[in-house]
Amino acid sequence: MTGIESETRSAQPRAIRVEPVRTPEELEIVYQIRREVFDQEQHLTTWVHDYPEDGAGLNVLAWIDGEAVGTGRVTLWGDEAQIAWVAVRKPYRGQGVGRAIMERLIRWAEEQGARTVTLNAQTHAREFYRKLGFRPIGRPFSMAHIEHQFMERELHPVQTKGGQ
Ligand code: COA
Repeated sequence: MTGIESETRSAQPRAIRVEPVRTPEELEIVYQIRREVFDQEQHLTTWVHDYPEDGAGLNVLAWIDGEAVGTGRVTLWGDEAQIAWVAVRKPYRGQGVGRAIMERLIRWAEEQGARTVTLNAQTHAREFYRKLGFRPIGRPFSMAHIEHQFMERELHPVQTKGGQ
């Protein structure tokens, strides 16, 4: 077990910071986490560079004590926001990191004036998204050999447009 993992399992909760990705180096960390979770862990895809969407919208990184521990992305299509690539590195799950990432992405979408937010949830994570206010639409379907569920949540757009 590494020092980091042993700290993670200690009782003391640690502060989670979720920040917009601002530099090419930070975007490379996003790709490392996507690779670690969606390729090496889940064997879902080896393709983690998702353009042109990665160049638009908002990518975020979650940080604990200077360590990048999770990521997520939101893009806009008219007044619909779409969330994708939400991943928390395995040793850091179950500590509120995923929720913090989602809340940041949703806040940004509301600031941009989005009225709904949608995503394709892996069905094992349905409950995670349900707790964040998402409801399933339609039936589960298979994508890259993993069962998914389309989900949606209404938003309350706020007036201040633009800020990250
Ligand atoms: N099943 C049921 N409940 C879950 C859950 C799961 N798989 N994952 C999280 N939850 C619940 C937590 O218990 C917590 O509930 P609470 O608020 O009542 O305490 C709440 O959701 C928030 O959990 P959190 O600790 O913020 O989640 P996390 O940091 O572990 O992140 C994932 C959740 C899904 C992002 C993470 O497990 C992950 O990266 N998985 C692999 C990649 C993946 O599947 N991503 C989703 C692609 S659609």
